[in-house]
Parts: sequence; C-alpha cells; structure tokens
Amino acid sequence: MAREIFEKQLPLFTENDASEPPIVNVASVPQRSVFRYPGGKTWFVPYLRRWLRSLPVPPVEFIEPFAGSGIVALTAAFEKLAQRVTLVEIDPQIAAVWHTLLSQDAYWLAQRIVRFEMTAKSVEAALASSPSSTRERAFQTILQNRVNRGGILAAGAGRVKTGEKGKGLASRWYPQTLARRILAIATIKERVHFIEGDGVEILEQNSARADAVFFIDPPYTAGGKRAGRRLYTYADVDHEALFRTVACLTGDFLMTYDNSENARLLAEAHAFLLKPMAMKNTHHAQMTELLISRKLDWLDYG
Ligand SMILES: C[S@@+](CC[C@H](N)C(=O)[O-])C[C@H]1O[C@@H](n2cnc3c(N)ncnc32)[C@H](O)[C@@H]1O
Repeated sequence: MAREIFEKQLPLFTENDASEPPIVNVASVPQRSVFRYPGGKTWFVPYLRRWLRSLPVPPVEFIEPFAGSGIVALTAAFEKLAQRVTLVEIDPQIAAVWHTLLSQDAYWLAQRIVRFEMTAKSVEAALASSPSSTRERAFQTILQNRVNRGGILAAGAGRVKTGEKGKGLASRWYPQTLARRILAIATIKERVHFIEGDGVEILEQNSARADAVFFIDPPYTAGGKRAGRRLYTYADVDHEALFRTVACLTGDFLMTYDNSENARLLAEAHAFLLKPMAMKNTHHAQMTELLISRKLDWLDYG
C-alpha cells in the first residue's frame, strides 16, 4: 500500500524537449494487470488517455488484438475511455488467465495465490504439474510469470536468481497485490470481453466498424528480428498481411513497433504516419518505439 501511495505521487512525465512528447514515468501509471510482461505497454498509458479523449465521441469498443498483459485495454475499461473493451490473445497459457479473471473463478484464483506457500520446492512442483482445469492453468501461468526472469513464459526462459533485494524467487511474488488486482478486474468484468484466438482475424471481422478503435501491439519480429521470438511462445506474425489488414480498418487505430527499418518501410508503404517515442525500458535504459497511425496530431506537444 505504502508503495502504491508513493507511486501515485511521482510525476507522470520526465522532462525533455518541450516540443517533443514527454518521456513517461512508468512508475506513476496505475499497475492494473496481473502480469509483468515483456514488451508491456505501461509507458503508453498516458498517451492512450490523450488519444481516446481527442476523439469526437468515446468509442463504443476498444479492441486490443495482441493483448498480452492487457494493461492498455484494462486502463481503457477502468477509466471508462471506451464503453467496452475486447482483448484477443492466441497463447493458451495467457488465455487461461484471462478466462479465469473474467469468470466466477477469479475469487478462487485470488485465494489460491494468497494461500500459496512459496518455496523453491513448491514452485518447481507447481510448475511441473499438468493443470487439470483452466483456473489451475491460470494459477500456474501467473506463478511462472512471476518467477521467470523478465516475466518470460516462452521455452528457454530461466528463473529469477537473486531478484529484488536478493529475495530470489519470491522477489516478484506480491500475493496481496495480485489478489487486489484480480478482485478489481472482477468489478469491471461486464465491460471486458476476452477472445482466445487470432488477433488478425478479429481485426478483419471488425474492419467495417466506425465505432471501434484498435490498439495493435504485435510481437516485434518484422524483418526476421529475433527479440520477439525469445520473449513469446507465439511470435510468428505475417507483418505484411497485418499492415494490409490494418489499412482496411474504418475505425481509428494505433500500432506500436520497434524502431526498425522494416517497420518504417511497412508504415511508409501504406502511407501511415509514424512517430518515434522515447521511453525507458524496465532496466531504465532509454530507447525508442514507433507509434504508427493515420492521424497523430493529438500527439502535438509543440
Ligand atoms: C508485444 S506482446 C503484447 C504486449 C501487450 N501490449 C502488453 O502491454 O502487455 C504481443 C502478444 O501477442 C500475442 N500474439 C502473437 N500472435 C498473436 C495472434 N496471431 N493473435 C493474438 N495474439 C497473438 C503474443 O502471445 C504476445 O502476448
């Protein structure tokens, strides 16, 4: 709790050139997801607010076809920036968590986490077992996400070793905080819809809608980049086909990509606008990611 109060007092932005979008202080953004997620878009949250509030009317539906931790869609739902949100995720492990969070089993999951006695032995036993239900699989996924280095669920990821303050495996295991987030998500579940499936198909199905907006954050594998492959079990996306689908969307959209030559070329081929955004990654290193859209005037800080 003390930590949360402290976080709320931090300034939202770190200062930089006044004409540029400021660098977001991620510690100031309310953390609503149960995941610590590689490639998570917490840094985007202040821009999400600015973008959606710039629209003439609040969207009926906010669709996030590559959901991962869902921090962006969850924020839209909590802050009523859209009437409802839809998250899509293809990875069955992550999907098990979303199915459970949005069902009656959310309470079971919160209790399971709070009652779990964490030792090196209990962690390995829980992770080695074959889950017999969706909710058990959800618990196993959250545990794995918390004890694996960088929150990585893909094969080959190692465990956290010394962790925060030398606390080892338990250094990212905050049972009470996780339970609170789970119960908070349960209070807005009427406005949150989850689909286990292919995000590109969902984009195609919704392409004629003018009342929906889309936040599209695929694994960064354009041009054969390897980073996304190490981070996600499902990393293969046909980026050219994705851009063609996005070009047919009637509703407003935003894509995020790594600041790579390939992503730039794809954006330019469709006459989309792009803006490199300075951000700090989890290691506090400054880097840039691209925002891509048809309209970025709401980003003007000049
Ligand atoms: C960059 S991450 C999204 C991170 C998310 N924006 C966040 O803030 O946590 C990309 C996600 O897309 C998922 N994914 C990969 N291919 C997909 C597909 N065809 N349909 C839906 N999800 C997919 C991956 O499993 C991964 O969770």
